[in-house]
Amino acid sequence: MGRGWGFLFGLLGAVWLLSSGHGEEQPPETAAQRCFCQVSGYLDDCTCDVETIDRFNNYRLFPRLQKLLESDYFRYYKVNLKRPCPFWNDISQCGRRDCAVKPCQSDEVPDGIKSASYKYSEEANNLIEECEQAERLGAVDESLSEETQKAVLQWTKHDDSSDNFCEADDIQSPEAEYVDLLLNPERYTGYKGPDAWKIWNVIYEENCFKPQTIKRPLNPLASGQGKSEENTFYSWLEGLCVEKRAFYRLISGLHASINVHLSARYLLQETWLEKKWGHNITEFQQRFDGILTEGEGPRRLKNLYFLYLIELRALSKVLPFFERPDFQLFTGNKIQDEENKMLLLEILHEIKSFPLHFDENSFFAGDKKEAHKLKEDFRLHFRNISRIMDCVGCFKCRLWGKLQTQGLGTALKILFSEKLIANMPESGPSYEFHLTRQEIVSLFNAFGRISTSVKELENFRNLLQNIH
Ligand SMILES: *[C@@H]1O[C@H](CO)[C@@H](O)[C@H](O)[C@H]1NC(C)=O
Ligand SMILES: *[C@@H]1O[C@H](CO)[C@@H](O)[C@H](O)[C@H]1NC(C)=O
Repeated sequence: MGRGWGFLFGLLGAVWLLSSGHGEEQPPETAAQRCFCQVSGYLDDCTCDVETIDRFNNYRLFPRLQKLLESDYFRYYKVNLKRPCPFWNDISQCGRRDCAVKPCQSDEVPDGIKSASYKYSEEANNLIEECEQAERLGAVDESLSEETQKAVLQWTKHDDSSDNFCEADDIQSPEAEYVDLLLNPERYTGYKGPDAWKIWNVIYEENCFKPQTIKRPLNPLASGQGKSEENTFYSWLEGLCVEKRAFYRLISGLHASINVHLSARYLLQETWLEKKWGHNITEFQQRFDGILTEGEGPRRLKNLYFLYLIELRALSKVLPFFERPDFQLFTGNKIQDEENKMLLLEILHEIKSFPLHFDENSFFAGDKKEAHKLKEDFRLHFRNISRIMDCVGCFKCRLWGKLQTQGLGTALKILFSEKLIANMPESGPSYEFHLTRQEIVSLFNAFGRISTSVKELENFRNLLQNIH
């Protein structure tokens, strides 16, 4: 099992060598060791170790981030959950109670969020100014004039074509609604079976750069993974360029994070009076135990840390955008908005101080033409995954799936934006670089999920400590 690691993450071999010695002296004993013994030391494809991330996240970042995400600006997310699946006829599981998403009543969402641009549009007597205001506030709203909406849409399209990793959700649509994320937490819903399986399957099989010649299913949920095929698979993965391997690892990390949430917020007990949600150790072990998953579990957890580092790096890089004096987390409550911005900047400075940031310059760095093509490929694949989220049959899962892919897409946009790169590092992002409110809310909430998962791993580690 220890050797299996080498196949998967061989590329930055020097880093790998430092960690491959772990776990070989003594056979793992407790359940905690079976999940975590390999999830320690240096991570692959970067120069960072798990323990540093744990300490940094669990004690310094996580509590403050939670506080920020409870604020009005971040808790209301506008989303269209009713878009039809573009790839097949979806079998909806919307009937499941735990899948339901309760949208906000219109009076629940602060006016400032709903129509942040409205108060400017009345005063604005020229189209451009109006657009600029709307852009700056990251708010495009029904209350804008039709002309302005068109202009903003055009601008959005332009931005899309150059930078975006996600299909822009049609939040202008009358079907888009505000959702209070605090009232609709990501947790166990009972959504499983062929429908749920199919989602992950098409993501892994049709969207992760897998060549026809590889027979082994990438989908970790698929059965019948023969040992010999496994070797082919990992040597294939090792042979991939760092970007395509990263793509797979990001998807796998997202999958792992979602599963950590489902295991940590499992529906343990249900009476007609109340529901009890909490940690289900068995569920966690079935997904992450090294033996029960034939070595896959610890790999998935490492991919979770990889995803964490990617998003962390994006946040540190985008700090100058949020530091602009004219940027506000606008909800209409002036005092609250200013406090929130201070907290946001505090968090971002903390993130910037993290000593072992991922170096994204190793990505798309080769021959210019090839790198460009690769980046384009990467983007198209990722966009496609954001569209697949409209096929998720359980609304609750669709909500969090859409939010997290949009958040990760935003992180990738930050990391690889030409507009950012052209202006880094001294001057910060140029005014051409822009994030909408949607992108900002999803970026931080998506990172909040990954941060929560890392924190939950500590809880599971403790719970598994004495189990054999
Ligand atoms: C997008 O995903 C669908 C469903 O998995 C797949 O059939 C299609 O080939 C993908 N398209 C691209 C451009 O990757
Ligand atoms: C925990 O999850 C397992 C499936 O992994 C399930 O069989 C079991 O009933 C769950 N335990 C509780 C207390 O719900």
